[in-house]
Amino acid sequence: MVNKILEGAKSEGAVIDSIFLSDYKIKECDGCHACWKGLGCAKCDDMNKFYEKIIDSDAIVFGTPVYWYGPTALMKGFIDRFVYFNCPENREKIRGKSAVVAIPFEEEDEKASVATVEIFEKSLGYLEMNLTDVLLAPGVGEKGAILEKKIILERAFNTGKMLARSL
Ligand SMILES: Cc1cc2nc3c(=O)[nH]c(=O)nc-3n(C[C@H](O)[C@H](O)[C@H](O)COP(=O)(O)O)c2cc1C
Repeated sequence: MVNKILEGAKSEGAVIDSIFLSDYKIKECDGCHACWKGLGCAKCDDMNKFYEKIIDSDAIVFGTPVYWYGPTALMKGFIDRFVYFNCPENREKIRGKSAVVAIPFEEEDEKASVATVEIFEKSLGYLEMNLTDVLLAPGVGEKGAILEKKIILERAFNTGKMLARSL
């Protein structure tokens, strides 16, 4: 889903990049707030380079399956680290950036994704980001099953196009 969104954005001239959180060390935030005091993050992990990447970007596409009615632990850990942006000096570095979220999950009932969607809506909203679209893909259980969901993938491509056009 994320690939399709990025393809759509690229077709409109956007420069894209994707990262898999599982390829990196992103430790859990424990709220020491060193980042609020102008100090580097105490965790000294890969998230420090992603702060730069996020600041340089115009839009972020988040993708996570539903794991026990929430995002994956990897994605939650990543979002927790956005606390870096929640101080007066750093808020302007993320305020107004666009975001799209893509969420596949196994159950057929979209209600299974409610809490996951809400985490993004509330957290990104709190940071005054602009969540332009949330794409849901119910009925996706096996790895690769999303490839059978042609209509959702088409919608993902169009979402990417619209996202790029809006920037
Ligand atoms: C730990 C775990 C918890 C899950 N919890 C849910 C759930 O609460 N609701 C749901 O619809 N699917 C749930 N699923 C299914 C996944 O959302 C689905 O298989 C998804 O396609 C997995 O994507 P992945 O292969 O990229 O991990 C869960 C899967 C795992 C492994």
